[in-house]
Amino acid sequence: MSSSKQKTVLVAGGAGYIGTHTTVELIEAGYDVVIADDLSNADISAVRGVEAIVGRSVPFVEVDCCDTEALRREVFEKYAFDSVIHFAAYKAVGESVAEPLKYFRNNLDSLLSVLALMKEFDVHNIVFSSSATVYGQPDELPATEQTPRQRANSPYGLTKQMSEDIIQDTVAAVPGMRAIALRYFNPIGAHPSALIGELPKGVPNNLVPFITQTAAGVRKELAVFGDDYDTPDGSCLRDYIDVVDLARAHVVAVSRMVERTAAGAEGDRYEIFNIGTGRPVSVLELVHRFEEVNGVAVPHRIAERRPGDVEKIWAATDKANDVLGWHAERDLGETLRAAWAWEKRVRGL
Ligand code: WQD
Repeated sequence: MSSSKQKTVLVAGGAGYIGTHTTVELIEAGYDVVIADDLSNADISAVRGVEAIVGRSVPFVEVDCCDTEALRREVFEKYAFDSVIHFAAYKAVGESVAEPLKYFRNNLDSLLSVLALMKEFDVHNIVFSSSATVYGQPDELPATEQTPRQRANSPYGLTKQMSEDIIQDTVAAVPGMRAIALRYFNPIGAHPSALIGELPKGVPNNLVPFITQTAAGVRKELAVFGDDYDTPDGSCLRDYIDVVDLARAHVVAVSRMVERTAAGAEGDRYEIFNIGTGRPVSVLELVHRFEEVNGVAVPHRIAERRPGDVEKIWAATDKANDVLGWHAERDLGETLRAAWAWEKRVRGL
């Protein structure tokens, strides 16, 4: 890293769950960060949490990334950076089925606007938040980056597939541009400081926030969606990745592109990496582990399968391990303790 442009990263959607954790890891690795976020699904208090952890203020611009003019004026013209991490997207699978146009409009427009401005301002590198949802239910497990994508079963998932394709074609057409798509498995947990974490609005869709809210007494009981799957205990298998480990993967991805750009490296300018632990964990195992490590009960009952759920998926992480030199480090128990510490802090428990 030499110039300040190379040391600065625009984090679009940086006030959200993964964006805040990534901002902390970037700053701790020596990068400067500018956060752009419209706060449509985040709160400014999350940025204050980041600032409390890193001990300094972080430039924040409240802007809708779909608004190209505003993004140009308020961000690209005012700050010099050579890398963007693009988190700015809606992520509620169920809502995307009910309101597909909202998802296509927002998730694609924000990406298109960021890419167009990157081209205009000669910004070279982008890390994109993709998802294991692009694999659907793979025939063979673990899923590798070569596992064929299946048509996503939600508009949310489709926006991730389309975004990957848009980025791939853009990188191919714009000399010097590089991109890394990180396919996240199931991100969970919170920063060990308990100053940042996941803040879902309304009833949580995802498992761990539902567990922590149930343990806190905010929800009466957890519904375990299905115990008759073809898995060891009948509940679904997922690959739960600690959000701090996931955040570190973004830092490594940015560094890789900055270094390759500086070195004028030839070769693949668009790369995909799975980011998971490589270990399948069932819903029931996760609930029991949470209870055990935190010494708290999570009342639960078995319910119907949730439409659209895949039975089992976990990551092959060899490519991220070998090429990025990234490994999931945090133990599941530690992650579930951090998730509970965050929930307790939010609830004042
Ligand atoms: C995990 C497991 C549920 C809630 C989704 C998106 C993915 C990513 C993460 C966005 C499943 C079970 C859940 C509950 C339960 N995107 N479950 N009771 O569906 O694997 O992935 O979220 O941010 O793209 O598809 O995650 O946390 O919703 O579910 O039994 O109340 O927990 O059936 O087996 P999922 P999840």
